[in-house]
Amino acid sequence: MIKYYSVNGKIVTKEEASLGINDLSILRGYGIFDYFLIKQGRPLFFDDYLDRMQHSAKSIGLPLPFSRQELKQQIYDLIKANDLEEAGMKLILTGGYSEDGYTPTTPNMLILVATLPSYPLTHYTEGIKLMLHEYHRTFPTVKSINYLMGVNLIPQMKAVGAEDVLFHFEGHIHETTRANFFIVKNDDTIVTAGEGILEGITRKKTLELARKCYPVEERNLKIDELQTAKEAFISSSTIQVMPVVQVSETTIGNGKPGRVSQHLRQLFRELEKEYLSALLV
Ligand SMILES: Cc1ncc(COP(=O)(O)O)c(C=O)c1O
Repeated sequence: MIKYYSVNGKIVTKEEASLGINDLSILRGYGIFDYFLIKQGRPLFFDDYLDRMQHSAKSIGLPLPFSRQELKQQIYDLIKANDLEEAGMKLILTGGYSEDGYTPTTPNMLILVATLPSYPLTHYTEGIKLMLHEYHRTFPTVKSINYLMGVNLIPQMKAVGAEDVLFHFEGHIHETTRANFFIVKNDDTIVTAGEGILEGITRKKTLELARKCYPVEERNLKIDELQTAKEAFISSSTIQVMPVVQVSETTIGNGKPGRVSQHLRQLFRELEKEYLSALLV
C-alpha cells in the first residue's frame, strides 16, 4: 500500500500532500515531470530519467530545487518509506506560486508514487490499433505536464477502438500521446522519427539493442510509409515494446505482430533484468 509522497523534499502522507491553488501548474499548465519505474525496489535506468528531467527543467527555465544527489536520496527515502518493490514514480516540477498568475517563481517539487499500470496480454500477442491525428506537441523534447490534446481525444479514440493516438504533422509521424513510434520495413530496417519528439528512455534503450541486430534509421518518417511497413510498434516505460497492427484505416503488414517487434520486446526485457541484477552486485 502506497502511503507516502514527497513535497519539496519532505516525506508526507498522501493525505497531507498538497499544492496551493496559486501554483502556475494549475493556473497556466506550466510545469514538467518525469516518470520511471521502480522494480525490485530499485529505480530503473535512473540516471537516464534524471538527465531528461534536468533537460526539461532547463528548457522551460525552471531551476531544479535539489542537486541530483539530493533528489536521488529523496527517491531512495521514499522507496524505503513505502517499502516499494514495484511501482511507478512521478517527479513533478511546477512553475511555483505566482503573484501575477503568469510569471514563474520558485518551483514546487513533488514526488508521487503509484501502482504500475498493467496491459492485457493480448495487446502484446495480437497487437493494438492506433488512431491518427494531426498535431505536434509544443516543446516536443520537453516532458511537459500538458497532455491537453491526448486527453481531449480519449472519447474519439475509444469510439474507434484505438489504444492510443498517433500524432503526425505536415506529412510526418512523430509519436503517440505517451509513447514513441517505429516501423519495420521489408528489409528489417527500423525507422523512427529523429526529431520533434520526446526522446523516450525506452526508445533510446530499444534503439541501442536494435542496432546490434538490424539497420536503424532515425529520420523524418513519412505518413505514407505506413502503407508498406511490414511491422510497427510503440515504446514507453510502462508498455515497454508493444506491437501495432493497425493505424486508423491502414492494416500494418499482415495484421499480426511481427518477428522484429517481438524480438525487440524480448531484448528489452532481458536488458531490464541485466540492469537490475547488475545493481545487486
Ligand atoms: C509524448 C511522449 N513520447 C514518448 C514517451 C515515451 O517515453 P519513455 O520511454 O521515457 O517512457 C512518453 C512517455 O510518457 C511521452 O509522453
